[in-house]
Parts: sequence; structure tokens; C-alpha cells
Amino acid sequence: MGQLTRTGIAIDDDLLARFDRFIARQGYANRSEAFRDLIRDRLVGAAVEAPEAHVVGTITLIYDHHSRLLPEKLMDLQHDHHDVIIATTHAHIDHDTCLEVLVVKGRAKQVQKLADLLIGTKGVRHGRLVMTSPSVVLTQTA
Ligand code: NI
Repeated sequence: MGQLTRTGIAIDDDLLARFDRFIARQGYANRSEAFRDLIRDRLVGAAVEAPEAHVVGTITLIYDHHSRLLPEKLMDLQHDHHDVIIATTHAHIDHDTCLEVLVVKGRAKQVQKLADLLIGTKGVRHGRLVMTSPSVVLTQTA
């Protein structure tokens, strides 16, 4: 944990009022933690853009398990990229729909490639990749 440094910023009254309402809805106890989270979010976003960055994350998939050969295709892709996948969770959302969440770890370019392949597979209705950088979010302050 780094040392805390106090800093001041100039900000438009209306923008600050909107920010205060936003963070109240989000449940933040104070502005400082909300600002720190915003900064971390931008730093993580910048860090994971580098193809060689070490990232962790999740790939979420929604698909119809009746879609012809789709479960087999998705399983084959996952076996082909077993070195990137730490864990998978599968939930049967309703009679037709599956939700799958893959926990992934590796270089940003590997994780992105796997996500593109899975999400782009015919029959996958929706997919989302979330990447974060463990090294950027390590520093926590009170
Ligand atoms: Ni299912």
C-alpha cells in the first residue's frame, strides 16, 4: 500500500453535483474512494490495451444449447485454449438457454483472441469479455 497524498482539483459545480449524486447512488462513502476507483478503472483500461499485458478476466457467453453442434464447438475451442482458461461455470438459464462464464488468465492478446473466437461462433447470442490487470489494482487505500 502506497502513502496517501492529498491533492485538490478544480471542478465545475454542476459536474461535481452530478458526480456526488452518482456516487451516492453507487453507495460510495466519500468522494475520495470514488475518484480512486475512477482512476484505477482508466489505468486498468489503458494497461489491458497492450497486447503483451498480463491480464485476468471473464468471458461470459449466452447461447442456445439446441443450436446444432454449438456446445461441441465451444468445448473444442476451450480445449484448444486450455492454457488460458482457469475455470468455467455453466448454468442452465431456462429450457433452451445456457450461460457460461470462463475465468481466464494470460496475455491480453491470447485472452482477446479466445473471446473473439467464442463470441463469434455462430449461435452464440451474446458475449462479453472483461479484462482487468492484477498489477494495476493491487494498490488499495483506506
Ligand atoms: Ni446449459
